[in-house]
Amino acid sequence: MGGVVKPLIGADLDRVDGIKKVTGAATYAAEVQVANVAHAVLVGATVGRGRIKAISARAATAAPGVIAVITHDNAPKLPGVTEKQEANDRLVQGLQDDVVLYHDQPIAVVVADTLEHAQHAAALVTAEYDAVPAIADLESDLGAAFVPDNPKAPNAVSRGDVAAGLAAARTRIEVRYTTPVETHNAMEPHATIAAWQGASNLTLYDSTQAIFNVRRRLATMLGLPRDNVRVINHFVGGGFGSKGAPWSHVLLAAIAAKVTGRAVKLVTTRPQMQVFVGHRPKTVQKLELGLDGNGLLTAMRHDTTSETSRYDQFIEQCTGVTRMLYACPNVATVQRLVRIDVATPTFMRAPGESTGTFALESALDELAAAAGIDPLELRRKNHAGHDPETGLPWSSKSLLECYRRAAEAIGWSRRPAQIRAMRDGRWRTGLGVASTTRSSRQLPASARARMLPSGRAVVQAGTQDIGTGTYTVMTQVAGDALGLPIGDVRFELGDTAFPEAPPSVGSFTAASTGPAVHNACVALRRELLDRAVRDPASPLHGLSADAIDVDGGALIARADPKRRDSYAAIVARSGQPEIAVELHTEASRSRGTFSVYGFGAVFAQVRVDEELGEVRVDRIVGAFAAGKVLNPRTARSQLVGGMVWGIGQALHEHSVRDPRTARMVTRDLADYHVPVHADVPHLEVILVPEDDPHVNEIGAKGLGELSTPGVAAAIANAIYHATGVRVRDLPITPDKLIQS
Ligand code: MOS
Repeated sequence: MGGVVKPLIGADLDRVDGIKKVTGAATYAAEVQVANVAHAVLVGATVGRGRIKAISARAATAAPGVIAVITHDNAPKLPGVTEKQEANDRLVQGLQDDVVLYHDQPIAVVVADTLEHAQHAAALVTAEYDAVPAIADLESDLGAAFVPDNPKAPNAVSRGDVAAGLAAARTRIEVRYTTPVETHNAMEPHATIAAWQGASNLTLYDSTQAIFNVRRRLATMLGLPRDNVRVINHFVGGGFGSKGAPWSHVLLAAIAAKVTGRAVKLVTTRPQMQVFVGHRPKTVQKLELGLDGNGLLTAMRHDTTSETSRYDQFIEQCTGVTRMLYACPNVATVQRLVRIDVATPTFMRAPGESTGTFALESALDELAAAAGIDPLELRRKNHAGHDPETGLPWSSKSLLECYRRAAEAIGWSRRPAQIRAMRDGRWRTGLGVASTTRSSRQLPASARARMLPSGRAVVQAGTQDIGTGTYTVMTQVAGDALGLPIGDVRFELGDTAFPEAPPSVGSFTAASTGPAVHNACVALRRELLDRAVRDPASPLHGLSADAIDVDGGALIARADPKRRDSYAAIVARSGQPEIAVELHTEASRSRGTFSVYGFGAVFAQVRVDEELGEVRVDRIVGAFAAGKVLNPRTARSQLVGGMVWGIGQALHEHSVRDPRTARMVTRDLADYHVPVHADVPHLEVILVPEDDPHVNEIGAKGLGELSTPGVAAAIANAIYHATGVRVRDLPITPDKLIQS
């Protein structure tokens, strides 16, 4: 059974949902029309740590339009709220007690007939506290750092003898880097509409990267069977990790709907999005590196500390990259945590890699400078031919080709070895390089493929499209597997009524749900073929499967193309309304014998005004290889987006808390800076072709987060090349360049 149509996979196609998005027809969670909806507004604590002595809801309750004011005094008691089933679950606050764990923690929910009435009444809620001093920054309490216990993924790991490796080195460096708190700031705020059907069935329209996580967590917290909770979410305006687990507002919307007997809509404000929907934690990272006379790494030590909350644990995995990116016999890494008075941090685009790679790739540049070696040459010399951590071969690796192509594109050969050697008028200019990598995971996923009497297919999986292009690439995968043109396939997602698929996080949607969609569609095609060859009424009756091709919605005898049976005809003869197949797909078995990562090389060219400390990024060239590219247009969009994040990490993004109260001071996009058009030059993406037969049925590794790590280091390294100033604390703002 072969195919003769031009493949959709790999084609540079428009987004299938593009017109819906640009015309406003795409419906986001808060836009779903639900009858008789009431509006909820959260009231936040005004101390950073302590207890609520008294909370007054009287004025708010009497305000116009108010339906309910819910506080810990009258909220329903839900023992499941403190239960956590998986490490990546995040504990949330549901008005269960008087404890204040962080500034702006929700302490009341006001429900009213209109949003304006709810906002007004929320401003009338007052509270008195027994406050105790709050710690806002992990550097104020580094002595309390601890190594979290995790037998499955230990936080202190070593191989070889680092002390001996360092002693044997000709060149040694010991450096300390810090990265700040960052917040995700998706364009679409976190939003939930909660609607109960009777006492024990709940529907949530929720902006999430993980509908099945929301279902599981809300069922646990509310004490409901999982099947009684349905989560629907057809479009998401970005998540970047912050929508991977449900936060307090989802639970509070469900509670408010229960208490009032109304459907309730709750949309977080931009200030709330800086506080309790996760953030990238601050990190303090110490690195020691040793190099021998041949330019080979003799030892690496990477010691990192990141913040977490008092009540839950999130570890920023900074050191993973250090253990696998370069060939080095002696490596020791440790990850510590410090508990402070903040809401729990979480995954943020390329979690661990973004922060860890900034430190590692900056340190490598410092080592190259100390040893007098070209920084690109240093990386090439220490290229790892197999995974040095596990000893496994790579399933595929094209990093050397990424270096070669991106170096050529940016003109690395013209880079003078000396610092402060390039100029353009009053600007100093410079070039920097960094590597990037991200693991490729495949999670189990299910999909359903349905052939309708029209000969068109509907394919369904409970995945999400967070702006990455899931609708589009899954339509391509399904179309190829069924031998249908793209217009004859509709892919549906975002509903827990569909077969379960994993969260849209960790860059693993294409590599997980993609194979599930492929396999379900191949099985449906096979089912249609089997019915045809068994059916005396079919022109294909009696043929064997390998004598049949598929083209444009029909099965065709290869030896005699006039013998054809269309999908529509097969369904019509079946006497059934449709023919459907549902299939579960596990991770590819050959993955166990390989180490599976995407790789890339990032080169930056910057200019610096030394008097003003102003940095301009002139060019960034990134070459990336992550298996099969399903759609170069959506892939490029992902990679460009990730590089913009890298520019933000390097130069702009920094959440600031008041050290006296632990209150977030950067509360909106005026104070929290992200790159704007004027900050982003033309970004050049080189997609390095890579054929990987081991990763899964469709050959895709996933690339959503691959382009962010490396960018900040490449920019920092270029700034050093331009000016001789090494900034080890992100973001690289003008003050840090002028002070130096
Ligand atoms: Mo990603 S940080 O797993 O959305």
